[in-house]
Amino acid sequence: MTAFFSEADVVKTIAEDPSSDIVRKRTAFKDLRDRWVARSGGLFTEANDHWLKRAPAVAKRDAGRAINEIRTKLTVYLDELEKHVSFSALSGREAFDITLPSIRRPIGAEHPVIKALNEIVAVFKAMGYSVSEGPEIETDYYNFEALNFPPNHPARDTQDTLFIAGQQSKPPRDRLLLRTHTSPVQIRTMEKLAPPIRVVIPGKVHRNDAPDASHSPMFHQVEGLAVDTNITFCDLKGTLDHAMKALFGSSVRTRFQPSFFPFTEPSAEVAISCIFCDGKGCRTCKQSGWIELLGCDMVDPNVFEFVRANGYDPAKVSGFAFGMGADRIALLKYGVDDIQLFFQGDVRFLEQFA
Ligand code: DAH
Repeated sequence: MTAFFSEADVVKTIAEDPSSDIVRKRTAFKDLRDRWVARSGGLFTEANDHWLKRAPAVAKRDAGRAINEIRTKLTVYLDELEKHVSFSALSGREAFDITLPSIRRPIGAEHPVIKALNEIVAVFKAMGYSVSEGPEIETDYYNFEALNFPPNHPARDTQDTLFIAGQQSKPPRDRLLLRTHTSPVQIRTMEKLAPPIRVVIPGKVHRNDAPDASHSPMFHQVEGLAVDTNITFCDLKGTLDHAMKALFGSSVRTRFQPSFFPFTEPSAEVAISCIFCDGKGCRTCKQSGWIELLGCDMVDPNVFEFVRANGYDPAKVSGFAFGMGADRIALLKYGVDDIQLFFQGDVRFLEQFA
């Protein structure tokens, strides 16, 4: 009878094989169990049908007992083995239910605005600029005063500011607000680094603007500042013309028009020829052929006065500055028609940029 199965063999096949994973073990276990005890085709059924039933009457009792003994022993073994191959016997990482749907781990993608910020920064890095950053909660001093916006100056009204509540007991210049532009980091950078400097400053800014397709109370800018001896308006023009071509393609033209910012003198507004109609006039450029993209110009000597002690004598150094809206650039570059889409977190929209 023992020729029918070997205990050692059974145990080795399943429980003691450390390399067999749970699925293989379970399959092997079920095969083994069926081979022995399956109602049809199992070795016990066969032994009954072909051997026990046909045994001579005198041998039937002993043979029956022997078979039953083996069966009892085998059942104990099978029960024991089943524990080894059950999922609940597993612990830690091994314990999983193979019938569950697999875990999908979608690969994250750069947000389109961050992508645009990085592209803009890369264009200036290639021209030797370094990157600077500053706080989003700023003081009135850095956001306005040191940029030549005196208290109560009407230019402050162009940047509808979100102030932090409960600041009345502080002197006006120390009152906190959400920065309305990245320009305060010009001052912070000049306080830290003596000239010559060339920096770009990417970051988030806030204004009390009602959200619509082209406005968001939170948006992004990239500021630039270059200070050295003999920096001229030509340097500014060449730099920005190159940057716009690098960002939008070499056929893009730039247009500089006089404007006003308290911290630059003179000041200019830069537009690029419409990238959709090549300047002929279309809906996007409101038939003008131009798209306004940034403010810029030569740093006002009054601004240098605030950092004169760090080597910024307005009689010796000159510089240019510029500030551009990164969200607007992302809208144009990626052909999106509503800025709100950038901030609603809808994965169906965002995954298009993956
Ligand atoms: N800070 C200005 C704004 O947010 C943009 C700007 C204009 C930045 C001229 C500059 C500049 O650095 O020179 O409206």
